[in-house]
Amino acid sequence: MRWIGIIRILVIVFTLLSTWFFVEKIFSSKWEASSLHSLFEKEVKRDTIPEKKHRKCGNDKECPQNYFAFKVISGAANVVGPSICLEDKILMSNVRNNIGRGLNIALVNASTTRLIKTGHFDMYSGDVKDVQKFLAGMKEGTLIFIASFDDPATKLDDKTRDLFTSYGSSYAKKLGFRDSWTFVGGKGLKNKSPFEQHIKNDKENNKYDGWPEVLEISGCIPKKMD
Ligand SMILES: *[C@@H]1O[C@H](CO)[C@@H](O)[C@H](O)[C@H]1NC(C)=O
Repeated sequence: MRWIGIIRILVIVFTLLSTWFFVEKIFSSKWEASSLHSLFEKEVKRDTIPEKKHRKCGNDKECPQNYFAFKVISGAANVVGPSICLEDKILMSNVRNNIGRGLNIALVNASTTRLIKTGHFDMYSGDVKDVQKFLAGMKEGTLIFIASFDDPATKLDDKTRDLFTSYGSSYAKKLGFRDSWTFVGGKGLKNKSPFEQHIKNDKENNKYDGWPEVLEISGCIPKKMD
């Protein structure tokens, strides 16, 4: 009887040891395999694929001389904040900590790309007068970048919508509760801006439950020549 007991214990110990050995072997060989794999991949990339060129604001196309590269991304639902990039500089973003629910607006000198100011305006429970104050005194030759986040429109009045329209917007008049909107315009533009996107908040077609999908516009803005 004592022998049987000892043998049982030996069998259990042996099973445990071999399981441990086996598991350890698998994990370490997997790890080695994957690190070898990534080394190999790096090697291959370096040899055959030319390094992806960094373009300003991460855009696909390079801008010609006397054009400014930009990218404007609207917020995602009420979760991920919007961002505005110009000439590879992030003017507004979550990381810069200068965005918020509603309208996110950056004003830029159209000759130099120098940032004049940024502001974010809660259009669900804020005061639209703050937007008007922000825009007051805007000179000709100022670019305006706008990205929506969550709700850009509940408090928007006709006066402010008309201002945006005068900067070249086609959709400011129709903007509604929780629509997605990205826009680049300017004071003194003679035509409608080509840099604008808008999606209506529509329960049937929303990407997220209560919100349409994220909008992204990018491209090249001609420098203002004096
Ligand atoms: C842009 O900058 C130039 C050069 O500093 C200046 O003369 C011009 O008034 C500025 N324009 C705006 C709209 O701020």
